[in-house]
Formats: sequence, C-alpha cells, structure tokens
Amino acid sequence: MSDTTAHTPYGTLPAAAPLPPRKPISLPRLQEMRERGEKIAMLTAYDATFAAVADHAGVDCLLVGDSLGMVCQGRPSTVGVTLEEMCYHTECVVRGVRRVQGTVWIIGDLPFGTYQESREQALRSAAALMQAGAHMVKLEGGGWTVETVRFLVERGIPVCAHLGLTPQTVHALGGYRVQGRSHAEAERLRRDALALQDAGATMLVLEMVPAALATEITQQLPRCHTIGIGSGRGTAGQVLVMHDMLGIHLGKTPKFVRNFMEGAASVRDAMAAYVAAVKDGTFPNDALHAW
Ligand code: KIV
Repeated sequence: MSDTTAHTPYGTLPAAAPLPPRKPISLPRLQEMRERGEKIAMLTAYDATFAAVADHAGVDCLLVGDSLGMVCQGRPSTVGVTLEEMCYHTECVVRGVRRVQGTVWIIGDLPFGTYQESREQALRSAAALMQAGAHMVKLEGGGWTVETVRFLVERGIPVCAHLGLTPQTVHALGGYRVQGRSHAEAERLRRDALALQDAGATMLVLEMVPAALATEITQQLPRCHTIGIGSGRGTAGQVLVMHDMLGIHLGKTPKFVRNFMEGAASVRDAMAAYVAAVKDGTFPNDALHAW
C-alpha cells in the first residue's frame, strides 16, 4: 500500500491487517468446531466494508451469495446474476477481510446457468470464483449435482451444497415455500444430503426445511456441516442475508429473520450479537423462526 493511499477518507478500513486475534477458519477448523459442538456463524456479504466489519465481529464464514441479485441489484430473483458479477463481488469481499483479520472463510455462490450444463462447465465457473479469492464454492440442487460435486472436490475445490428452498429454481418450486413437508419430499432430502456428503461436500445449506428434518439430516452428516436458514436450531450453523439481519428492508420480514440492529449501537455490534446468539443457541428460536 503506498503512502498516498494508506489513509483513505472513505470508510474507515485499516490500510493493512493487524495480526489476527483468531486462527484463520479452514476446513479442519470447521470440523473441529463441529466436533466440539460449536455452532458456525455465517452471514452473506457483497462488499469490502461490510465484509471487513463482519470479520471484525467474529463471523466465521461469509457467503458471497447470489442474493446480491435482490439486495444489491434490485432484481426480483437471483436468476439474472452472472458469473462476472459474482467474481467482482467476491474480489470486493476478499479485499475487505484482508484489511481486518483476514480469518473468515469465504464461500462464492455459483450463479444460475454456470454449472448445470456439465461438470466441465462447473469446473470452469468454480475456478473463476476461486481465482477471485473464494475458499469454497456453493451450488444449488439435489441428486443431479452429486457427480458435479465429486468432480469439483476431486480437483481440489471445497464445495457447499444447497438443498430445500433453492432460490435459483424458485419458478419450478412455485414460490418461496417450505420444502420437505411431505413424506416423499423429506425422504428425497435425506437421500440427497447423504449422497452429497459421500461425494465430498463439506457444507450444506438447508433452506426452509422443517426443523425436525434439518436436525435429523444434521445428525446423519458428521463430515458435512449443515448451515440452516429458516430450518431451526438443530443445524451445525446458521446463515442470514446480511441486509435482513440488519433490518434493511421495506417489505415483510421473513419469519426466520431476527433484526439484530434492535438494541445494537452499531452494525458491528449487531453482527457480534448475531454471532453470540448463534453460538449460544438462542438464535434461531424454533418457536418463532422455524417450521
Ligand atoms: O444467495 C444467498 O445469499 C444464499 C443464502 C440465502 C443461503 O444462498
């Protein structure tokens, strides 16, 4: 960093990272956390400043989610987000965290249409996100993604799978609805989750899945850490869209969201309160935030 850019007036990110007060999050560290029952606290992030604040607040993992299509780009769904846009936002997040602790685990979301065609297409897209600085890529879908996950993992790319409500296929699902309520749907989710762990997925987002089913799936997957959103407190970790947990929206708050800005003096404090609530198990509260 040159002297002329060391003290930027815009935002207050430090020019260089001080020594990190915690060990960097890695796959072995996530496994250790899991084994001692420590919950994983994840948030979405899309830019340098919020990512840096989240890292400072002790968030374990940041998901550069394609939800940026809605929260940053004002689209009605995630479907229109491109790989170039995902790489751009991933680079921004990576730059932000490098200027604070640089210890957070960063997951880049593969957007719609960039992994469905073939395993080779998925590899090219995943490589672009990894080169942008992600530590892991996320892709949505059940059984049909298993061979793609295996192909990426064998080539050294850590993968987070995503089951339940998969926003890229919201049109096929008929809306943002709880998934896995019927016996057949629940069976399919159990089967897909096991197959994804066997293929090498080390993380699995479970979105809007009934709490009892998400807990059961979590117990079946010792090597694949379930991260719930609207799926109750029994998962290995939790994720929320950052704007939601900061209360930045004008419409109806989704049932599974808690506004952590209430009672917080700053965004950093709200994020730290989120981390504390995930870790001590007070968020989510199944009676309020789950099905
Ligand atoms: O894109 C995203 O932010 C996500 C989370 C909602 C899990 O996939």
